[in-house]
Amino acid sequence: MRKIYVLDTTLRDGEQSPGVSLTAQEKVEIALQLERLGIDRIEAGFPITSKGEIASIQAVAKVIKQATLVAFSRSKEQDIDAAREALKGAEDACLHIFLATSPIHREYKLKMSKEKVLDTLEAAIQYGRKYFSKIEFSAEDASRTEVEFLCQVTERAIKAGATIVNLPDTVGFATPDMFGQMFKTIRENVTGIERIQLSTHCHDDLGMATANTLAAIANGVEQFEGTINGIGERAGNTAVEEVALALETRSDVYQAKTSMVLHEVYQTSRMVSKLTGMLVPGNKAIVGANAFAHESGIHQDGMLKNRATYEIITPATIGVTSSKLVLGKHSGRHAFKERLIDMGYHLDEEQLNTAFAKFKELADRKKEIVTEDIRALIDERAKEG
Ligand code: KIV
Ligand code: ZN
Repeated sequence: MRKIYVLDTTLRDGEQSPGVSLTAQEKVEIALQLERLGIDRIEAGFPITSKGEIASIQAVAKVIKQATLVAFSRSKEQDIDAAREALKGAEDACLHIFLATSPIHREYKLKMSKEKVLDTLEAAIQYGRKYFSKIEFSAEDASRTEVEFLCQVTERAIKAGATIVNLPDTVGFATPDMFGQMFKTIRENVTGIERIQLSTHCHDDLGMATANTLAAIANGVEQFEGTINGIGERAGNTAVEEVALALETRSDVYQAKTSMVLHEVYQTSRMVSKLTGMLVPGNKAIVGANAFAHESGIHQDGMLKNRATYEIITPATIGVTSSKLVLGKHSGRHAFKERLIDMGYHLDEEQLNTAFAKFKELADRKKEIVTEDIRALIDERAKEG
């Protein structure tokens, strides 16, 4: 199995979610949990943004012992100096420099020619190399960059001393086929590519961040970037837990694995949701409240006979104690009877039929039937009987 490195950017790109701001203490708490989760590289923030941000990263640097600590920086000396300040106490540090490369960013945002972009990124990486042995360079908006130019960018970044080159789908524009092809072209045409790790970083504007990340992995990238619960700018980033579980569950397809401690996934998701205030939708893959809940009678019957009929991941894999059979109007007798037994009721066939008919009547009026509803229903039947 090929090892895939994970760079978690919950504390940087995730914190760029509208309305999210984390205190130093909150960043420390999340970083410690990310380390328990077995994340290889933790991007702790964007130091140039404020003095408080530098102090937060320094606080994270004091407690992180296993993971590499990463700080984000524009291709500017003042940003790199701020990153040096922020990362000075880190056990293992990596500077993450970025510069946009696509025509629209070159023309309107940067007002730079292709040559100027190449010279700017080269100068920034060379400056960074004076202070850091590990440098990641990101070609912002890579998926909308001419692929020949992207080859030149990657080559120049390698020559200047980058150790990781990250090609992001910054605006979630890529499709899996084109994104996979882009990495294949880079691998086949860039001189020196074997000297660095290739990385990917996707956004979810069209709901394809996980699929695009997996396409990049299938085409040889060694690192992917993402956030817990997929939080981040606009529609968010690739959800780290989705890619990790896809690799785990479909190792037959990808033959690649992360070093993540998967049973810490759920706890990490809850913590990030609580500290960022970003709620996890019920139907969110892997960590949503309904990810292991079953309501229809047919599904519940299948689950009671063999859980693999309707679950491709066991809840225990991500640290959830058990699946949930939700009682509602689609539920069947089998699940209803099991719930009664769990609650200590042992009804004969006729009693069960009457109780089940009452349960169905109630389920037409009430979306989810909870334990108290069932107790009331049985006690009422007992009084009548
Ligand atoms: O989305 C992006 O391109 C980023 C950086 C890696 C530049 O967040
Ligand atoms: Zn991003």
